[in-house]
Amino acid sequence: MPILPWTEQLAIDLGSAWVHIVAKGEGVVLREPSFVAFEDRRHKPVAVGVEARRLWERGVDELEIVRPVQGGVVADFDAAVAMLRQFIRRALGHRPLLSPLVVVATPAGATQVEERALHNALIAAGAGHIVNVQRPLAVGLGSGLPMQSDDSYLLVDIGAGCTDVGVFHHGLVTSIRSFRFGGDDLDEAIIRTVKRQRGIRIGYPGAESLKREAGSVETALHNGPVHVDDVVMVENEQHVESYEIEVDEVPQILTKAFAQLISELNWLIEELPRAQKQQVAGGGIVLSGGTALLEGLDQLLGSSLHLPCIVATDPISCTILGLEAVLSDIEALSLGGQRFGAVRV
Ligand SMILES: Nc1ncnc2c1ncn2[C@@H]1O[C@H](COP(=O)(O)OP(=O)(O)OP(=O)(O)O)[C@@H](O)[C@H]1O
Ligand SMILES: [Mg+2]
Repeated sequence: MPILPWTEQLAIDLGSAWVHIVAKGEGVVLREPSFVAFEDRRHKPVAVGVEARRLWERGVDELEIVRPVQGGVVADFDAAVAMLRQFIRRALGHRPLLSPLVVVATPAGATQVEERALHNALIAAGAGHIVNVQRPLAVGLGSGLPMQSDDSYLLVDIGAGCTDVGVFHHGLVTSIRSFRFGGDDLDEAIIRTVKRQRGIRIGYPGAESLKREAGSVETALHNGPVHVDDVVMVENEQHVESYEIEVDEVPQILTKAFAQLISELNWLIEELPRAQKQQVAGGGIVLSGGTALLEGLDQLLGSSLHLPCIVATDPISCTILGLEAVLSDIEALSLGGQRFGAVRV
């Protein structure tokens, strides 16, 4: 379908925790949590983005607060549409509401059904045309890695619900894989362990603040207790307003939670053709996604996989910056340009 010259063009990174939107020529125009709050009959959202996340953190019982994206894919279609409709409107600002062209990324392992759900949600939310990019490719393009280097890089983007992996070489990605693992699983591991060891139930906001406070996957960066709000004693279902948990218990939980991912990455490296393995040994691992901000994760992955490992300069923005790169050269794409490899128009 031809794209009219006045069509607005957006890039959207619809993450499990955060949504980023770029408007062509303007950079990032929206960064909001991927949350939507409804009153009981889902008539119209009462809040989206940062407001909805605040309500979720406060635990407002009268509202249904939804995270429409889970594990990197649309898990609640109606909620995703409601949230995207508002975000697209905000991103377009005062511009005419002509259905925009949207460049979007799907996890490497997304099924056709999951990919279609994302596209349908975008269309229902107001998009006119969709350009799909595989996430590892977007991450590679947005990570600022040298395109001309003879080395290859093992990209590992660990978000909230999904880890996308790909081998990046001269602007193309191969050996792409995705795993349903991310920061949400770390939060869940903390919740489970605290329940087992202390007989108390903490919520996701408490677990996430414990994770951030510990700040490290190997040894806690800080000492002392963290106050966790809204705790329930499992034995008698009694609510406790604030409970203290020692932060140095957390790194061990996190290290354990990464074991499965490390073993999957090990397999992926082992399966690479010999020449590519050598090229990856030169470039090493490049970590991105919000979970890459966990201190010490680069050392843990580097030493476990026997490769140099660095964190990308702006780890939480690699995907959207890569999509912005695709957006800036969309004409080349429309002509069937090969530059972006795995892109489908
Ligand atoms: N300083 C930090 N330390 C530890 N974890 C962090 C830190 N900052 C963010 N995170 C975690 O990063 C995750 C969000 O990362 P990101 O924004 O890349 O996810 P996303 O792109 O929305 O999700 P996905 O790509 O998996 O769909 C959350 O789980 C959050 O708790
Ligand atoms: Mg992401």
